[in-house]
Formats: sequence, structure tokens, C-alpha cells
Amino acid sequence: MKKIFAILLLCGSVVLAAEVNYDEAKVPSYTLPDPLVCLDGMRVQSVSDWETKRRPEILKLFRDQMYGYLPEILARAGNHPDFVKFEVAEQGNDALGGTAIRKQVVITFTHPDRPGKCVKAHLLIYLPKNATGPVPVFLGCNFLGNHTITTEKEIFLFHLRNGSVITEETALQGNEVRGGRICRWDVPAILKRGYGLATLHYIDVAKDSLRDCFTSGIFDLYGKATDEASRGDTEWGAITAWAWGLSRAMDYLETDRQIDASRVAVMGHSRLGKTALWAGATDPRFAITISNDSGCGGAALSRREYGETIQIMSGGLRYWFCRNFQKYGPCVDTFGIDQHELIALMAPRPVYVASAEEDRWADPKGEYLSCLYAVPVYRLYGISEPFGGRTEAELPKQNTQVGGVIGYHIRTGVHDVTPLDWEMYLNFADRHFRK
Ligand code: GCU
Repeated sequence: MKKIFAILLLCGSVVLAAEVNYDEAKVPSYTLPDPLVCLDGMRVQSVSDWETKRRPEILKLFRDQMYGYLPEILARAGNHPDFVKFEVAEQGNDALGGTAIRKQVVITFTHPDRPGKCVKAHLLIYLPKNATGPVPVFLGCNFLGNHTITTEKEIFLFHLRNGSVITEETALQGNEVRGGRICRWDVPAILKRGYGLATLHYIDVAKDSLRDCFTSGIFDLYGKATDEASRGDTEWGAITAWAWGLSRAMDYLETDRQIDASRVAVMGHSRLGKTALWAGATDPRFAITISNDSGCGGAALSRREYGETIQIMSGGLRYWFCRNFQKYGPCVDTFGIDQHELIALMAPRPVYVASAEEDRWADPKGEYLSCLYAVPVYRLYGISEPFGGRTEAELPKQNTQVGGVIGYHIRTGVHDVTPLDWEMYLNFADRHFRK
């Protein structure tokens, strides 16, 4: 029921109800921006045209119109900023029943001009214990805290989802108990296949709240705005902040000799899938990017207006994006980009999109079509069948991986991450990392 009518009550003080379209016949006809035609009309003919002209143009459009810009100090610092420090605060060499090495890395963010002020985040890492060399790793944010992805008592307690600091085990409830989200992280399968997992709680980086986001975490440390509305039109939203956090986690992975940083797959579910896509687009060190049910603002084409739309997102979720994004709600055809171009920004790196059949809110078909329409950019690199030769707009059979360097599956079931999704990601990573 919840999503039959999207209540746009957070759009200022206006209370509106808009019917959400779940009827394929009512998808408006649309023309997508061509990823291979530059703003001045020039047609991209080569990798060089793409990399020097059109790709930067598309990236800029995504920054201007959708996810926003990092503050100057962060943009200028690039990777490995000297005001971000790492400390392996805990290590267990016999973790998870003797199958893993566990590390808990404290990431401390400081500001060169604001002595005494800092923000801390925790990166939890599991590596297969029997590895004979540096291992490839999946990196992703988690929703409810590092302590929810396994039952190990050693995992530090820190923030709850609502941002409050917690140290007391007895106060944990529901899915926020230790191991409460084991179902979404198939750590045993990941380790068994020879991969590591690195994860951080996104709330450590910035709160996921319209009211508190801009006064929390790294927004408070590096940002100017004090709330959503006081931002300039192109200033960063939460997705950009969380994605920057993933890049800093990558900075650490590059320093750890037990990890092969040239084989890191960034992965995320739902809003954190949107975040993984933006991290993969902005940080080419991520060798694979994986979007699990990321939907509107992630892998799904905005112009289809099926399920969640820009208009709906511009309500209570508008702080995930820059302010300019809200302008396209009523006129998505004027939006300078669409999400197939976000997928194309990964080229020629492997990218994977997963949908769930019952997750209509995220528009599985729109997620699939973004993969299909990113194909011409991958072809520039001489990859003849980037999407496994698929040309049809019809979704593939459920629970089956299709594609090539662009991979896709649609799982039966609801909005979630399941062991089947992980099996697909591991197969995809094997194909690209172990050739
Ligand atoms: C909401 C939101 C989605 C988002 C999802 C999630 O459903 O509308 O855009 O992907 O939450 O992150 O769980």
C-alpha cells in the first residue's frame, strides 16, 4: 500500500499525492540523450574523443544537475588527502571460526584549518585466511552498522542508523542487534571464493536524514551549508558524501599489502547502490562497480517515470542530491543526462546491475535498459559484445546472469540482497578478475 501513492508531503509544506505508475503502457515516450553526441553536436568517434571531451562533459552534467560537487578542499586534495588518517585498531587472525583475518580500521577525518575537530568512521575487513597473496575485495557501505553483518563480539559498536552513538550491547534492538543483517552479506561465500570484504557504516560518514544530514559527519567538518535549503544549487548531497567516504576506504585498501587494490569491486544496495554507482563513476580505481536494486537516482532511467521518479525523490529524499536535481521533477525531458550515461561512465571497466522482480518501485526494466543503452560507449573500446550481444528491450529470464563486461540479472523476489545476488557477483568478479 505504502507505495501505491507517493506522498510528497516533504516538498516544502505542500501535501500532494501523486499516483505512482506501474503500468508499462503508461510509460511516456521519451528520447534519451545520446552518450556519443557532445553538447556542441560533435559525434564521438574514438576513445580519445570520449575520454577527453564527452566523458568529462557527462561527468560535469551529473555534478551540475544531480549529485553535486565536493567542497573545494576535498576536490583539490584528490586521493590520499593528508588530513585523513587510518589506524588498524583491532585485528583477529583467527576470525569467523578460523576462516578469516579480521581488521577494524578507524578512519579519522580532520580539517587542516579546524584543529581539534574530527569525524571517525570504521572500516571492517574480512580476508580469507588461506590466501597465498593479495586478495581481491568487495567494498560497500552497510545500512545498520558493521556489527550487524556478523555476530562476532569483537566488532566495535558505534553509530545506530539514526546516527546516535552507541556502546552498549543491551540497547541494540531489531535488525540492529549483532548479526541482524547477516542475510545481506554472504561473508562465508565471499571468503570461500577467495575474496575479501570491506564495509563501513554509511552513517559514520554522514547522517541519512533531511533534518540532520548537513550538520553531521563530514558535512559538518568540510561543508558550508547548515541545512538542505541553504545549499547552493550544485553543492554536494549525501550520495556524494557517502561516495567520497568509499573512495577514502579505497585509499586505505591501497596501503594494505594483503589486499590487491587493482581488484576492488565497489558494491551497494538501494540508496547505497546509487552511492556505489557514483563512487565507481568518480573514482576509476574501482575495477568493478555493482548496483543492487539502486532504482531511481541509481541505475534506472529517469525518463521512464515508472515507480519512483525524480519528482517523488525531490520530496523527503532531496538531500541525497544537489538542489538542481529538484528542478527536473516536473520536466524530466529537460534533464541533461539519464542513467545509461552513469553506467557508461564506468567504461571500459566491468559494471553489474541487479534488479528484483517484485521491486517495481526501483523499475527493473529501467535498470536493465540503462545497461543496454550504455553499450555504444563500451564498443568504442573495441569490446564487440559488451552486453553479451543483447539488443532487445525485453528483460532476461529470472535468476540468470546475462551480458558481458556489462552484467545484469533480475532475481525473483523483493528489494533485498540475497545469497543468489552474491553468487552472481562472485561469478562476475571471477570472470573479470581471474582471466
Ligand atoms: C526508498 C527510496 C529509494 C531507495 C530505498 C533504499 O525506497 O525511495 O530510492 O533506494 O529507499 O535505499 O532502501
